[in-house]
Amino acid sequence: MKKILCLFLISLTLLVIAHAQVLRSPNGKLTMTFALQTGGTPTYTLAFKGKEVVKPSKLGLELKNDKQSMLDGFEMGKVDNTTHDENWKPVWGEVSTIRNHYNEMAVTIRQAISDRIVVIRFRLFDEGLGFRYEFPEQKNLSYFIIKEERTQFAMAGNHTAFWIAGDYDTQEYDYTTSKLSEIRALMPKAITSNASQTQFSPTGVQTSLMMKTADGIYINLHEAAVINYAAMSLNLDDKAMVFQSWLTPDANGDKGHMQASCTTPWRTVMVSDDARDIVASKMIYNLNEPSKIKNTSWIHPVKYVGVWWEMITGKSSWAYTNDLPSVHVGITDFSKAKPNGTHGATTANVKKYIDFAAANGFDAVLVEGWNQGWEDWFGHEKDFVFDFVTPYPDFDLKGLNKYAHSKGIKLIMHHETSGSVRNYERHMDSAYKLMKQYGYDAVKSGYVGNIVPAGEYHYSQWINNHYLYAIQKAAEYHIMVNAHEAVRPTGIARTWPNMIGNESARGTEFQAFGGSKVNHVTILPFTRLLGGPMDYTPGIFEMDISKINPSNNSHVNSTLANQLALYVTMYSPLQMAADLPENYNRFKDAFQFIKDVAIDWQDSKYLEAEPGDYLTVARKAKKTGQWFLGSVNGYEQRVSDIPLDFLDAGKTYTATIYADAKDAHYKTNPQAYTIRKVVVNNKSRLSQVCAPGGGYAVSFVQK
Ligand code: NOJ
Ligand code: CA
Repeated sequence: MKKILCLFLISLTLLVIAHAQVLRSPNGKLTMTFALQTGGTPTYTLAFKGKEVVKPSKLGLELKNDKQSMLDGFEMGKVDNTTHDENWKPVWGEVSTIRNHYNEMAVTIRQAISDRIVVIRFRLFDEGLGFRYEFPEQKNLSYFIIKEERTQFAMAGNHTAFWIAGDYDTQEYDYTTSKLSEIRALMPKAITSNASQTQFSPTGVQTSLMMKTADGIYINLHEAAVINYAAMSLNLDDKAMVFQSWLTPDANGDKGHMQASCTTPWRTVMVSDDARDIVASKMIYNLNEPSKIKNTSWIHPVKYVGVWWEMITGKSSWAYTNDLPSVHVGITDFSKAKPNGTHGATTANVKKYIDFAAANGFDAVLVEGWNQGWEDWFGHEKDFVFDFVTPYPDFDLKGLNKYAHSKGIKLIMHHETSGSVRNYERHMDSAYKLMKQYGYDAVKSGYVGNIVPAGEYHYSQWINNHYLYAIQKAAEYHIMVNAHEAVRPTGIARTWPNMIGNESARGTEFQAFGGSKVNHVTILPFTRLLGGPMDYTPGIFEMDISKINPSNNSHVNSTLANQLALYVTMYSPLQMAADLPENYNRFKDAFQFIKDVAIDWQDSKYLEAEPGDYLTVARKAKKTGQWFLGSVNGYEQRVSDIPLDFLDAGKTYTATIYADAKDAHYKTNPQAYTIRKVVVNNKSRLSQVCAPGGGYAVSFVQK
């Protein structure tokens, strides 16, 4: 019996191998194998240095209202192999030149029964695999509805994962670190009270998903170029350790409306035995199309302050009045309403921020709560709350812009859409026109609350198309966009570089809503940041929020030195100094780092990296060539010990080191820091103790 079984297995393997197609990465470390299983089911595997990291995993899509799903019954067609190697220059970024180097295999498979063909295109980079489904124009496939995409990622073990809950409406979770088998038991409760917020499965997690195997291999599952398609989460079979794609549905429960010719986004698997390769990877960008904006001269990095933290902490309000329970934009005469006395966006207060920005070398001031509608929004889901053009009576739109411009500062517009997407689209042209009229070139948009129309989620195909529409429309007006609560970016900024920021993860605001995990910022670079920059809003110097608002007892779980390091570790061309001017004025010597640090880079060197524990990166400023370094630390005190061999050879530098003091601790002593100056060159080593929740930041000035 055993012999027969053996023979059967061997012939089965031979059958599979007969169709196997092998693709190797340029450096030869990764091997992808594509094969049709018996029954014509497409599968792939991925091996790193000869070790299988993705076991045989099925590929395919289940269709709605269609007799034949695209899951099996396929036969091999042609296989095209190519190789690609180019350098391209991002408009802004961590490096000035990005190499896009991969070997590609496009496999055409034909489903005999339906006479349909699908192309599965694989691109194997040194640090990972990207693949997508392509549906060429053909007689038997024109319009189709996706019931579910069934792409598997079969893991080879019970890995450690850094994960957030699968949720159609928010990504603003703290990460949980656990074995895959523990996800079910540790699944957190939904974090908002949105009626539609849906954690779809007790083992459902969002991408980007970071993992580490018992033998020290780092694996990241994500996607690239999510365009005209729903965002992908992953559902884990926690017995077999197999993830399967789970797309965000629309209000009808459908997962995608397609018309051939079309493609899915890229599904990505990054692999390395060195965690630094994952954070340094530009694979997600490389899987996106080159810029569609020809003239990009109007796109620029922005360092900004804002009338913002005072609202987030509850010290002041977005709304102008408490009087009006139901206000309809443009109908109620606000000049007759009684001001609540806490409105943040008053002309006098905004002027204070403009003066502070100008005095300290910032580019811009964000002002939230400038426009009518906030009274009406809270607690309601309405299709018509904001019109994005009508200021409150105490906000001098024209005068403030004039004042800002006279000091070399721009105001950043704020559009809280309240999730009313159609309302925003109806007003978009007039809103962008108003911005141009007064000289704004950047907008922060937001999608708080349930999406209107009702039943839609934050990451479905329909709303993903809206987010891109908003960016494309903004580009027509030469406006840069920073969208909060929108779908997490998947490298689209390569194509639309006016998308200079996104939130799409748990940002600093949560530190004022009760706090975030200490090691959050050591995980984000391995997950959220792989797809694009985050408007994380760092720079909090006062960790005791009750000092700002006595009725808010939140504590910011970070040392002050850690906050400085974030300007380097959390790459973004859009960086905020989020705290109140008065808190910066109390710590002027530490604030100097925020004033000095660059926000656009010609080169970046990841020096130390371990998800959940620490990250150290050095970056060379694009314009000045000046080096900066940032290091963030997780829960445990540690010594960061690094060679400074990235510095230019033959040069001597004064390094100013902003570090945790000996007794610093994120909880008990967060504001204890030291600043010291040492003379270094590229032969020097730096050894620095980092407090729990701490870190350090360095600026290097050539002597
Ligand atoms: C949530 C955003 O993340 C925050 O930055 C903004 O201030 C509020 N929504 C109000 O729009
Ligand atoms: Ca948010």
